[in-house]
Amino acid sequence: MRIAMIGSGYVGLVSGACFADFGHRVTCVDKDAEKVDSLARGVMPIYEQDLEDLVARNLREGRLTFTSGLAEAVRGAQAVFIAVGTPSRRGDGHADLSYVYSAAREIATAIGDFTVVITKSTVPVGTGDEVEIIIRKARPDADFAVVSNPEFLREGSAIQDFKHPDRIVVGTEDARAKAVIAELYRPLYLNAAPILYVGRRTAELVKYAANAFLATKITFINEIADLCEKVGADVQDVARAMGLDNRIGSKFLHAGPGFGGSCFPKDAVALIKTAQDNDAALRIVETVAAVNDARKRAMSRKVMTALGGSIRGKTIAVLGLTFKPNTDDMREAPSIPLITALQDMGASVRAYDPVGMEQAKPLMTGVEFCNGPYECAARADALVIATEWEQFRALDFDHLKRVMVSPILVDLRNVYRTDDMLAKGFSYASVGRALPFASTSRKK
Ligand SMILES: NC(=O)c1ccc[n+]([C@@H]2O[C@H](COP(=O)([O-])OP(=O)(O)OC[C@H]3O[C@@H](n4cnc5c(N)ncnc54)[C@H](O)[C@@H]3O)[C@@H](O)[C@H]2O)c1
Repeated sequence: MRIAMIGSGYVGLVSGACFADFGHRVTCVDKDAEKVDSLARGVMPIYEQDLEDLVARNLREGRLTFTSGLAEAVRGAQAVFIAVGTPSRRGDGHADLSYVYSAAREIATAIGDFTVVITKSTVPVGTGDEVEIIIRKARPDADFAVVSNPEFLREGSAIQDFKHPDRIVVGTEDARAKAVIAELYRPLYLNAAPILYVGRRTAELVKYAANAFLATKITFINEIADLCEKVGADVQDVARAMGLDNRIGSKFLHAGPGFGGSCFPKDAVALIKTAQDNDAALRIVETVAAVNDARKRAMSRKVMTALGGSIRGKTIAVLGLTFKPNTDDMREAPSIPLITALQDMGASVRAYDPVGMEQAKPLMTGVEFCNGPYECAARADALVIATEWEQFRALDFDHLKRVMVSPILVDLRNVYRTDDMLAKGFSYASVGRALPFASTSRKK
């Protein structure tokens, strides 16, 4: 089947390359000509495991091409995906749909025979209706169907997620569109990934509801972590015991510095706006967004406490900048407000991230970027783990002790065990795990 993928960012590029790998003929379109040029040369604009090889293989075998000519890609395609960005709109937090609508207008001009236009971008309820109106107005004669097919891949394991999804959600009632979608996803269907056919508006809402629920789970365990610290309990044990309950499940119960990334923060706010506009306020999600925002900056107080109450004039080494490991995505990363707050409190910040530093540099001022964890820790008064990259899981603490001014570790991802760190002579703070003596010293 011939596919046009409009938008070759995280979702468009990964989805396009995976569809090509299934044997479809895919043209990935992007209006960023520089991005298209690099992609055509096999140079990836993002860091995602195995993506370079996947793209190279499919380029070589002629199933995948890149272009900035939208019309030529759409002409002759049976399926046209819209995978452009839907960032938060400045000022009010609604999803900015200008890229989606502009793509729809361009697609309209090029539609030939029956075409299924599939929105993969995360869009508020009713966007599919609007896309349909835009195309219909521009091309009253066109034979097309507009379908919602939200994407659930995670950065850091995007290819695996795309090829082995928990489910595929398809919002359409059009029988011809269903047949096209079934053919597109047939290779996955053989892997027993269930396809759920639902109404278009329902599919649009599924994506927001799922993201808001996961964000709620994270925020819930983060607040439980704060309580653990106050009462001398261990959030890791609480989370494990909760997660073993099949009704709850263990995923997304890791306490930390607050959720970030390109999706959860903006999608939570956009869902809140949709709910408010429709007079069905989502109080839980409103609270989740507010609690999470406050939490990211509050992590700096943990560092301050670990340093005895003041960080003015101190040097803090931050390991990990991206919002999670295995990606170079810095969007809404907790490290950004953390570092700003540390600087506001008078500290100097040195930082190291295995792949995210180029993305981080334009977002941070006054930070000294280093070449590795030990260079970063040199002459630092405290070391902070902000992202749990694999390479930070087995640090050489004797080495760190030698190069640091004082052996203080603030572990915002609970990578290490408290007793191990104390045995190594480190002063150690983590999230939701009181120090061993806290249970005897706490107030009755
Ligand atoms: N990143 C994720 O993990 C993820 C996961 C699931 C869903 N989503 C959703 O998918 C959508 C895309 O996200 P992303 O992270 O891939 O965004 P992105 O910013 O990485 O990529 C969007 C791309 O679209 C291009 N573009 C914009 N308008 C265009 C047009 N008219 N024609 C051609 N290209 C155009 C941009 O140049 C950019 O390269 C968003 O709605 C997002 O919420 C993202």
